[in-house]
Order: sequence, then structure tokens, then C-alpha cells
Amino acid sequence: YKEVIRVHDITNFQSRSEEFFPLHWFRKMLSEKPVYYHEDTDTWNVFRYDDVKQVLSNHEYFSSEGSRTTISVGAKNKEGTPPDKMNISSIDPPRHQKSRSLLSAAFTPRSLKNWEPRIRNIAKQLVDDIELDTTIDIVQALAAPLPSMVMADLLGIPLTDSHRFKSWVDILFQPATKENAEEMELKKQVAAQEYYQFLYPIVVQKRTQPGDDIITDLLKVDVDGEKFSDDEVVRTTMLLLGAGIETTSHMVSSTFYSFLYDDPNLYVQLRENPELVPLAVEEMLRYRFHNAKRHRTVKKDNNLLGVELKKGDVVISWMSAANMDEKIFENPFDLNIHRPNNKKHLTFGNGPHFCLGAPLARMELSVALTAFVERVPSIESVESFDLEKNLTVSAPGQSLTYLPVKIVH
Ligand code: HEM
Repeated sequence: YKEVIRVHDITNFQSRSEEFFPLHWFRKMLSEKPVYYHEDTDTWNVFRYDDVKQVLSNHEYFSSEGSRTTISVGAKNKEGTPPDKMNISSIDPPRHQKSRSLLSAAFTPRSLKNWEPRIRNIAKQLVDDIELDTTIDIVQALAAPLPSMVMADLLGIPLTDSHRFKSWVDILFQPATKENAEEMELKKQVAAQEYYQFLYPIVVQKRTQPGDDIITDLLKVDVDGEKFSDDEVVRTTMLLLGAGIETTSHMVSSTFYSFLYDDPNLYVQLRENPELVPLAVEEMLRYRFHNAKRHRTVKKDNNLLGVELKKGDVVISWMSAANMDEKIFENPFDLNIHRPNNKKHLTFGNGPHFCLGAPLARMELSVALTAFVERVPSIESVESFDLEKNLTVSAPGQSLTYLPVKIVH
């Protein structure tokens, strides 16, 4: 198993809020230490757009394989580990291509088109439940349930069970600290077993009674004779949950935080022009998705980042910092949904490992925001809200656990 790099030691943030919105640190690193060696963790760190992009995509020199990682995913028992052929995030081309094709079968543009009305139904159901003229917690009302309900639905699992999903996922992808590592690992293994036992019979049933869902798509996959067994399908769905739930949930709650605290006028604009929602989604991914970072391991000695890198060195690419590079984005520290190139953000990565779920994530965010602005005339923040007390560590970094929103009629 891979050694997890303690990224917190690199940033040394003093509070949860600082980590939630680390623009100050990004600005500093971009201008003072764009290629930075951090001794304690023995890592190189890159922040500029071109360097980040190069490290993510140039797999001849920067490998996704290697013994150290910035992400802790799943549990160490068999139930908590993706099948070998699905080690998609940690293998390089050409082997990577095969894993990617196997999984792509479930993410075709056709599937996406079929999914849209289903996602809209779920979003509408959640938004319709919101009472006007009250204060709601947007995390409980929308950000937390939406992605797990969507994933459960797309997998073909009854919506009534999606909250169980969410609680398994929360445990499986929670980063451990030095102090609680062992205890967390045990909890993760239990969650993985429970999830496995829950899903296995469903997969077996779908072999004989196919549905219109991702599990059925995976059962049908055949790439040059390579197929998935029932066991592999179960463990592959776990990978999808890990990749797709916390990330999207984080994005929804951060977007509402931004509406309330970055630019209250933005909500008014979207309410008047809902066709601007996709632009807002893109800018939120650039401006408000923090802590996007990935590691690579140097494959061949090189000087591509202007320093001498040796085979085996670990380089961390800080995508969220690259999204603030003024060489690419004009006035990068301003939130501006009309910026012409906001889709160039690196929040979904770049190159062969570019996020397979990006179209789904974009659709979820767009559909949810559209449903929300169509129903809710106006929103306001609550004065007593204390950000620092309402954040928690999660796979994408600090995420909101609670965010009160006054729903104004
Ligand atoms: C890969 C971000 C949502 C599935 C990635 C990578 C990033 C990323 C940065 C590239 C990793 C690398 O270069 O090593 C995000 C963000 C999301 C999101 C910010 C939401 C806002 C989703 C969803 C799914 C998904 C909804 C599917 C259910 C995947 C998969 C990969 C991946 C399967 C691996 C691709 C590969 O290695 O070839 N994601 N993701 N992601 N993502 Fe996402």
C-alpha cells in the first residue's frame, strides 16, 4: 500500500477557514516559490499553470504510478480496494487506456443525455422541499443529498437507500490524521464490507434483469475480451462513489457560500438570466474549488520545471493555485462568471487522466442551480454564521458541514 503524503505539513494553514479559501497562500507561492521543494515531506510542489499542466499530462516524465500518494481512497481490505484492472488513477498509458475504456462504457454522451431528466427530477424534488420564508441549511437540503441520490439512481439503486451510501462514503474517504489512522482504517474496512454486502446481490440480480443504469452498463462491457466479474463491478462502483460524491457535494456547498459572501449580486443575475448558470458553474470550479492537487512521480531525470528532478522524486501539482495564475486568467483573484476562458481551469485535471466524470459533475451542478434559481427569488446570509466552526476535513479539503441560507420570498 502507498504511503500517504501529509500535505498539511506543506501548507501549514493556521485555521480551517484559511484552508477553505487559501488564495493568500496561492498568491504567495505563485509569485515567490512557484517551484518549491518541501523538505519534511520530500516533495516538489508546482503552482504555475504551465507547470501544473505539464506535470499532470506529460506521462513520459511524470508518472501516476509510484509508492507515494496525496489521496487516501477506500480501505485496505479486499472489499475496499478497486479491482486490479481498475487502478485507473495510478497507472500510466498505455496500460491506463484499457482501464479507462472499460469504465468509459458507463460514461458515454448517450448515457449522459439519458441521465439529465433523472438528475433534474432529483434536484427538483430536493428544491421543492425547501420552504420559502425560512432559514435552511443548504448542506442538508441540497449539497449533501444531491450527489449520493444521483449516484444511487444512476447505479440503479433505490433512492431510499442513498443515505446509507452517503454515510459509507463519508467514512471511506475521510482522510485520517497521524493520531487516528489505525482507528479510521478499521472503520473504513467495516464500511467497505457493509457496502459490499449491500451491493453484491443487486449486481447479481442485474445480470439476469438488466436495467438502464451504470451497473448494467459495466456488466455488459467487453473491451477486447476483457470483462467485469460481479465482484469487480461492486468494487468499481466504490471507486465511482469515491470520485464523484464528496467532490460534487463540496462544489455545491462552496457555490452557495460564494453566492452569499463573495458577490451577493450574482444570485440576482442568475435568477434573472438562468442561462448564465453554466458560466457560473465554470467560474465556481475555477475560483471556489480549493485544494485540488495531485501527485506524480518522476519517471526519468529531467529539467522540465527549471530544476533538476531525479527519477523517483515526487511532484505535487496544485491545480487550484494554477487556476489563479495571472498569465492565463486576467485578474484571477476576482470572481467573474463572464471571463472568456474560465473553462481552462485545471480543477478536473488535464491529459490522459482528465476527470471521467467531469460532464456528469458539470451537469449536476448546472441542473441543481437552475432548479434552485427557478424556485427561490432571493437568498441572504445569516449574520451569526461562524465559518471556522462549520468546516470539516474531507477528501477535497475543508468542506462546509452547515451553511444557513435565508430563503426570501
Ligand atoms: C479523475 C476532479 C467529479 C470520476 C479526476 C481528476 C480530477 C478530478 C482532478 C484527475 C486525477 C489525476 O490527474 O490523477 C473531480 C472534481 C469533481 C469530480 C473536481 C467534481 C466537482 C467526478 C464524478 C465522477 C468522477 C462525478 C464519476 C462518478 C473520476 C474518475 C477519474 C477522475 C473515474 C479517473 C480518471 C483517470 O484516471 O483516467 N477527477 N472529479 N469525478 N474522476 Fe473526477
